[in-house]
Amino acid sequence: MKEVEFIWFNGKIVPWKEASVHFLTHSLHYGTAVFEGIRCYKTEKGPAIFRLEDHVERLFNSAKIAGMKNLPYDKGQIIDAAKEVVKKNNLKECYIRPLFFYGYGKMGLDTVGAKLEAGIAAWPWGAYLGEEGVKNGIRAKVSSISRHHPNSVFSQAKISGAYTNSTLAKMEALDAGYDEAIMLDTNGLVAECTGENIFIVEKGKLLTPERSNVLAGITRDSVIKIAEDQGIHVSECKIKREMLYSADECFITGTAAEITPVREIDNRLVGNGKPGQVTKKIQKLYYNVIHGRDKKFEKWLELV
Ligand SMILES: Cc1ncc(COP(=O)(O)O)c(C=O)c1O
Repeated sequence: MKEVEFIWFNGKIVPWKEASVHFLTHSLHYGTAVFEGIRCYKTEKGPAIFRLEDHVERLFNSAKIAGMKNLPYDKGQIIDAAKEVVKKNNLKECYIRPLFFYGYGKMGLDTVGAKLEAGIAAWPWGAYLGEEGVKNGIRAKVSSISRHHPNSVFSQAKISGAYTNSTLAKMEALDAGYDEAIMLDTNGLVAECTGENIFIVEKGKLLTPERSNVLAGITRDSVIKIAEDQGIHVSECKIKREMLYSADECFITGTAAEITPVREIDNRLVGNGKPGQVTKKIQKLYYNVIHGRDKKFEKWLELV
């Protein structure tokens, strides 16, 4: 990880190395934290954070779903702090990670009386699944680990503890020599990847699993809007595992992974094993949008 100078930590800008917590931090033991992943991009007008308000909105929704009460900062303060941390570090392009967590002073599974704290870090982070993956596609494996049932850990909230499910699937895929895991829900239908939503292309149309059982990804939403603007039909529907194997194209979306083509699933080539035309078109349009080169979607960029 590339270290930078400062982190916003409980309302103050502090040196990177000083943003640390006590060993008995509640969220460290029980996963009782909520977080976001946001990206800032270089544009002609300067660094701009992509869909900042939407990310902060989701952070607060995650906190509400997780049952956090009396958050120490409001949305406006988190928005300002996210911009401040980018500016103070003089970053032109970066990943931004806000987190609300229960701090030191209370152990046990309940959170009654536990103190909520917050931090926001920003640092340069290149292609999450590698430049090669973005260009030529990645190899994915359908995981033996199911996406958690929506009534066990809620799928619309980015609750830290829930990510154990993702880490297990990701490590299984890496250990087996793949780049990413595709997770099925508890009914056996395609849900999402460990930190990305998934799309397939069938006869020029985009298909993606319904929101009911997956994180409502902001990149997913951006792709749907960009595709529809181009007259590409998008269907949010049930996707069976075998539809992955017969798809013409497949790509995954996320703030970290952006638009990454999938070239192989379970040792079967997707299409001809190369990123397809629709994927490449969406990828190009998306990169134009995030870099402020598409007037229609300029409203998604917040200058720091
Ligand atoms: C499980 C999961 N699905 C999908 C996504 C993609 O969401 P977004 O596009 O908002 O980054 C993420 C990343 O936040 C995620 O963690």
